[in-house]
Amino acid sequence: MPLVSSKIMLTAAQRGHYAIAAFNIHNLETLKAVVETAREERAPVILQATPGTCRHAGVNFLHAMAKTAALEADIPIALHLDHGDDVELAFKCIDGGFTSIMVDGSKLPFEQNVEMVRKVIDYARPRGVQVEAELGRVGGVEEELSVSEYEAAMTEPEKAAEYVERTGVDSLAVAIGTAHGMYKGEPKLDFERLEKIKNLVAVPLVLHGCSGVPDDMVKKAITLGICKINIATDIKIAFAGALLDYFKDNPKEVDPRKYFKPAQDAVKDVVKSKIRLAGSCDKAV
Ligand code: 13P
Repeated sequence: MPLVSSKIMLTAAQRGHYAIAAFNIHNLETLKAVVETAREERAPVILQATPGTCRHAGVNFLHAMAKTAALEADIPIALHLDHGDDVELAFKCIDGGFTSIMVDGSKLPFEQNVEMVRKVIDYARPRGVQVEAELGRVGGVEEELSVSEYEAAMTEPEKAAEYVERTGVDSLAVAIGTAHGMYKGEPKLDFERLEKIKNLVAVPLVLHGCSGVPDDMVKKAITLGICKINIATDIKIAFAGALLDYFKDNPKEVDPRKYFKPAQDAVKDVVKSKIRLAGSCDKAV
């Protein structure tokens, strides 16, 4: 089937109290690993690319690969721009066939954040593309924030309600204690805050930074309204780790079809476990 908007997937997930797993892909191998596994699990899935990946692979190449994978598959697949912090890139991805866009104005003051999201929504909506946006700031682990700075970066429930109403966004990424990249210790998630946001906001909620978060925490977040979980780092670790192991045993191998195979298999294992954690198996219709 053609690529679909992630809106239908997220609305069904919200109604069914599960989440859709969204995976950051970087090349043909990671894309195929995600799609093959999602097909095996009969799970709707979101393929994501960051601005960095768009620069690395090219918007048109990413779309061509995802579109071909979707046409060959019998599960819903969406192609999503992750952390689009530039309106022009968001427009380019929409014109290039992406079916879902995240506008990341989280570093901007509130009013400018709203304005940026509105601009993208005005362009995306008539074209049937869904829009995710973030309020608060999901940090990176490299950021050394003090406790008060850390809390200040979290999503404020009342502000989130105002933000969703004023932007008209389709889904909201919340900052409740997760971070991108690897965690130094166990992450601390503010479930009370998540519950408050869920009670004030009607659109599906998104949790970034899910790599390295213990399964029971992710599950609890899903019961409290998270409808999309984002995974990038766990895939990178699996891919690179398998390549390193392969070359330790086969230092003279030069055939990419051989050395990418174990890397792809390692990514498939991660994807399978995250899809099962999200509870989206057998939800492909
Ligand atoms: P991780 O770095 O935890 O995998 O987070 C990925 C993410 O949230 C992408 O938007």
